[in-house]
Amino acid sequence: MSTHFDTARFGSMTSSRMLTSKPHGMSAAAAASDIGTMRYYDEHATSYAEATRAQPLHPTFDSFVKRLKMHGGPVLDLGCGAGRDLRALSQRGLSAVGFDASRPLLELATEFSGCPVIQGDLRAIPFENEMFGGVWASASLLHLQRGDIPNVLLEVLRILQVGGYFFSSIKTGEGEGPDSSARWFTYFHPNEWISLVREAGFEVIESQASRQNIGTLGSQAPVAWFDCTARKP
Ligand SMILES: C[S@@+](CC[C@H](N)C(=O)[O-])C[C@H]1O[C@@H](n2cnc3c(N)ncnc32)[C@H](O)[C@@H]1O
Repeated sequence: MSTHFDTARFGSMTSSRMLTSKPHGMSAAAAASDIGTMRYYDEHATSYAEATRAQPLHPTFDSFVKRLKMHGGPVLDLGCGAGRDLRALSQRGLSAVGFDASRPLLELATEFSGCPVIQGDLRAIPFENEMFGGVWASASLLHLQRGDIPNVLLEVLRILQVGGYFFSSIKTGEGEGPDSSARWFTYFHPNEWISLVREAGFEVIESQASRQNIGTLGSQAPVAWFDCTARKP
């Protein structure tokens, strides 16, 4: 089983599926919810990069890396943003590839991490079956609409090798909609998130809730996060 991501099949910064060409079957409402989100990341890419790179790595980052090293295979950072985690994955000896819809963030991410990156939409994952030993999705799936989540989780399962690991972090709470920055957020109850992950076919192996003063630029309000590490049986 290959432990490296074959960039030749994609090339660096491949526009495999641009957000402007909306995924098949996507509703007009879903497309509308993207506009504020992607405008925010595209327009604030530099300040977002500075802010996120100043933040510590996720508390479960090193245990995810340890599990992944035991399993093997390349790792996909789904919604990689400005590349903080991509760089850390690469520095720990993993073959890492970034995937995100924001071209300005991807340019910063590949420069910062030295890793290949691919532009595309989380709802149209362009990778082949069982390509990755791990998928890391930190604070990215929360930008999708609730109804998009089951299919996206099935797609994550599809591209993971048997025994591979999937990390996700989401914001807990009720409802969905744009925040003061006009980014779309969908909030989940922890049990709801665990059920969605299980229903997709994963085995949940670790989860935790935390309140942290990170998550929204320019806001000091604590954010209730929920993290989940799962495995493809
Ligand atoms: C809150 S940031 C998290 C970035 C990074 N994972 C981190 O933890 O710092 C959310 C990321 O998801 C990306 N994103 C949002 N909606 C997306 C979509 N539909 N398809 C692909 N990427 C998307 C954004 O461009 C942004 O980089």
